[in-house]
Amino acid sequence: MRKILIIHGPNLNLLGQREVDVYGKVTLEEINSSLKKIAKKEKLTLKILQSNHEGEIVDVIGKAKKQGFSAIVINPAAYTHTSVAIRDAVAASGLPTIEVHLSNIYSREEFRQHSLTAAVTTGQICGFGINSYCLGLLAASRIIKK
Ligand code: DQA
Repeated sequence: MRKILIIHGPNLNLLGQREVDVYGKVTLEEINSSLKKIAKKEKLTLKILQSNHEGEIVDVIGKAKKQGFSAIVINPAAYTHTSVAIRDAVAASGLPTIEVHLSNIYSREEFRQHSLTAAVTTGQICGFGINSYCLGLLAASRIIKK
């Protein structure tokens, strides 16, 4: 079975209690269990990581291809707007990568309207809440089965 790496960036462990007006009440556990259901239907194996540490995310992306992953779905969270290191790691990964965001970053504060990472990904999905992740995983699945 093909393996997909799911990466949740900083503060996403707080979903459900964090800025509920922006992100809703959905928890990370609920997102992960929806992704696992999709993975089962799509016959994919998932590895899911949440990290608040830029270097850890860089390390995991850097090892992904060697470890047999076929694609990455990542919500870099705040690092979307700041991290050249994560952008470079994605660019170097050699893997199709889908960037996802719960909120529509283009309708929020100006500093969120630019993604450093998006340009080196296969594509970006944002603004659909939990469905951004579900669509991101389905997109990854289609890409690797092509
Ligand atoms: C986010 C949007 C980012 O701007 C923010 O820093 C997050 C979450 C989203 O999923 O909407 O932590 O990536």
